[in-house]
Amino acid sequence: MNGIPRHIAIIMDGNGRWAEARGLPRWRGHAAGADAARRTARACAERGVETLTLYAFSSENWRRPEREIKVLFSLLEEHLKRELPELLREGVRFSAVGRRDRIPESSRRLIEEAERRTADGKRLHLRMAIDYGGRAEIAEAARRIAARAASGDLLPASITEETFAVEIGRDGVPDPDLLIRTGGEQRLSNFMLWQVSYAELYFTPVLWPDFDRPDLDAAIEDYRTRVRRYGAVTAGNFADPPGQPSAGVSG
Ligand code: FPP
Repeated sequence: MNGIPRHIAIIMDGNGRWAEARGLPRWRGHAAGADAARRTARACAERGVETLTLYAFSSENWRRPEREIKVLFSLLEEHLKRELPELLREGVRFSAVGRRDRIPESSRRLIEEAERRTADGKRLHLRMAIDYGGRAEIAEAARRIAARAASGDLLPASITEETFAVEIGRDGVPDPDLLIRTGGEQRLSNFMLWQVSYAELYFTPVLWPDFDRPDLDAAIEDYRTRVRRYGAVTAGNFADPPGQPSAGVSG
């Protein structure tokens, strides 16, 4: 049985449908979604999760109507301002992953202030993926690796998975153990493509604004029962195929 996942990553989906089902404008779904994010971060800290990564804005989300984009960034700013004292009090380290050059300047400043002021937080590392795309992140890492190779700093033959892992996970966070997606869809939507290679996936129809402690606990319970093999086999579960002699022990 696994313990508590060290790193949980969440694709927070279903805000729009939550609002529509109540005859409310979509922004009300995002506002309720921001409350769910706050609740979930608290619950993760209480349960001893070390890192929580929330997919707040994907690089594809720029295709949404300008008004909706504005609402999302103003919610982010409002919450960052309001929650900063609690983050500091509770020992939560905040950081953002994703591009910083396209987001509103005011959001960027608040993000960087929160990152600076919470840098020593040890209880929970709360990461927000903003203007984030998994493929872009891999391409960016490849560009940096290529530049090092071109400058003679790195031999192409010495480039390994580890080289990428170091370039991609620059702030030293472990890969997610558990990836949760709410809202009923079962896809990754360009989220942490490299890092979720061995994550356990958990999909729930619950719409993100409704996601609460019992839903988090159900996901963690499910994770705890999964057998994580990382491509290997569990001792004792390998029988020889009929008619084939045992290969014996090699090496
Ligand atoms: C998906 O709902 C959710 C998002 C676009 C991003 C998540 C944003 C928040 C939770 C609010 C802001 C965040 C913080 C942390 C302040 P959707 O609109 O795609 O839902 P739908 O699939 O039902 O339309």
